[in-house]
Amino acid sequence: MRRKIVAGNWKMNNTLEEGIELAGQINDLVENTEINDVDVVIGTPFIHLTEVNKVVGEKIGVAAQNCADEKSGAYTGEISASMIKSTGSKYVILGHSERRTYYGETNEILVKKVNLTLENGLAPIFCIGEVLEEREAEKHFEVVKSQIAEGLFHLSAEEFGKVVLAYEPVWAIGTGVTASSDQAQEMHAFIRKTLVEQYGEEVANNTSILYGGSCKPSNAKELFENADVDGGLIGGASLKAEDFMGIITAF
Ligand code: PGA
Repeated sequence: MRRKIVAGNWKMNNTLEEGIELAGQINDLVENTEINDVDVVIGTPFIHLTEVNKVVGEKIGVAAQNCADEKSGAYTGEISASMIKSTGSKYVILGHSERRTYYGETNEILVKKVNLTLENGLAPIFCIGEVLEEREAEKHFEVVKSQIAEGLFHLSAEEFGKVVLAYEPVWAIGTGVTASSDQAQEMHAFIRKTLVEQYGEEVANNTSILYGGSCKPSNAKELFENADVDGGLIGGASLKAEDFMGIITAF
């Protein structure tokens, strides 16, 4: 059966020192709280990965927020999937809307990143989601389906089994406006149906689909209660250990 996952995305926040401190606080809370079968993930900037992996215990997986679209070589400033793997990290967040928007990340580029992530034994947390104009034009289902199809449907069922999806409506990211519980469930059910069509019931039912966008302790329970919402990708609220913990314990 699919896993429940709460993943933090620190984005470009925290110096190394601050990040080590925050990871330590989260780890203490996770170690000392009874958690209902939830996988906890922390997505840090690259420079934190090695140190944060030393600070956290077995119960927390560490994620990078991106990786290079090439294996190795003369790509100044890039960080490869194999380098991420060597830090002890387990996940790579890919296709976040901020990367798609500000850094021109296309589905074509994402295919290369997804492949390299999987080849290196890392699990992609693959982000999808529509912008406000697309929702207003009632194109949100079409947009999300094409992001999934173009970014991931080249994978075999076995490979796809390692992927975590994160539905993040762009209009809800960092805006304080969250999708309603019904809007989230409606899209998550649509995504699962899309997966059934491509890979069959078993793979679809085993895929964790996270919700992201202004998720906080006060609305997490309502969102996570939905049958097809398997957890969250958390930005702002993952920067404070207590808030992040409030979301983890919302299940
Ligand atoms: P937010 O960000 O929780 O701050 O809205 C979510 C994300 O971008 O992953």
